[in-house]
Amino acid sequence: MADIAVEKKKIVLSGIQPSGNQFTLGNYIGAIRNWANMQDEFDCIYMIANEHSITVRQEPAKLRENTYRALASLLAAGIDPQKSIVFIQSHVPAHAELAWILNCYTMFGELSRMTQFKDKSSKNADNINAGLFTYPVLMAADILIYQADLVPVGADQKQHVEIARDIANRFNGLYSNTFKLPEPYIPAIGAKIMSLAEPEKKMSKSDPNVNASILVMDKKEDILRKFKRAVTDSQGEVRRGPDKPGINNLITIYSVATGLTPEQVEAQFAGKGYGDFKAACGEAVAEMLRPFREQVEDLMKNKDYLDQVAREGAEKAARLAARTLSKVQKKVGFVPKL
Ligand code: TYM
Repeated sequence: MADIAVEKKKIVLSGIQPSGNQFTLGNYIGAIRNWANMQDEFDCIYMIANEHSITVRQEPAKLRENTYRALASLLAAGIDPQKSIVFIQSHVPAHAELAWILNCYTMFGELSRMTQFKDKSSKNADNINAGLFTYPVLMAADILIYQADLVPVGADQKQHVEIARDIANRFNGLYSNTFKLPEPYIPAIGAKIMSLAEPEKKMSKSDPNVNASILVMDKKEDILRKFKRAVTDSQGEVRRGPDKPGINNLITIYSVATGLTPEQVEAQFAGKGYGDFKAACGEAVAEMLRPFREQVEDLMKNKDYLDQVAREGAEKAARLAARTLSKVQKKVGFVPKL
């Protein structure tokens, strides 16, 4: 039979935590919207990282509900379970098994240098648990178990993808080639959406200030109000600049919501004030999120469907994960179960 050269698609893996009752505009722009756009070009695997969420205390009933809402959000953002593998992390126990092994190939010193660990442990000083410390190892397992080539993430997760590479490199060096070395895949625009209230800080699900973050399920009036109150500067010109973090952020958000380039946004608002611009940002974001929100609401009424998507996704993911896990177990010297 003639050889037909079929070019294999690159493998993409990413995850999102279901902590907080819904995603922020940062998660939407920096992550899930891009995930949907990658589905035709790549073989994509997307998961709800519920095991990562319990590194910070969660209310069990809320975590369950938030996990469903996170799954519904991925689907509403355009992730198609016929094209991509979508699943819930705890449904594929191989991640945690690989994480244990990788823990033994990860140094205390390198985990101590993770900026997110330092940041989260200062915010949760009464609960600096071992899971919070070894979190990047579980994330490395999530990535490496699927032999992922690319990991689409916002800027704040880049360091975690880099440590996954370091762990993979170390393991490959000791036991011969086992893991593919993953690359972070950071969007050119929107990799770090900032807080509307304190634009030097990242927009974050855990921010207690309700005006700091747009949540993807916010009603239009709340979106408009939050943009109206967004902190800017006293220069009054809709133009990017080094000392204009608030306006830089709003220009990024407006660009993404309208599909205009930042230069086109500046041209559109030349000679106009911040009030007009903020109102336009609110309108554009509300319009971008409206169909998404409606679809999440619909999907949340159909938990059976969500359960079915999660089950089918986990079956496919588990088959792929088992291959890498058994290779690794063999290499480290575990006796195979016959
Ligand atoms: P998480 O749940 O904090 O965030 C999910 C994704 O959203 C991005 N993001 C942002 N992007 C732009 N602007 C923002 N303000 C903003 N806030 C969040 C994050 O960079 C991320 O891409 N550890 C991960 C989840 C995870 C994972 C993985 C990711 C678990 N396993 C394997 C990739 C591969 C996390 O906590 O993301």
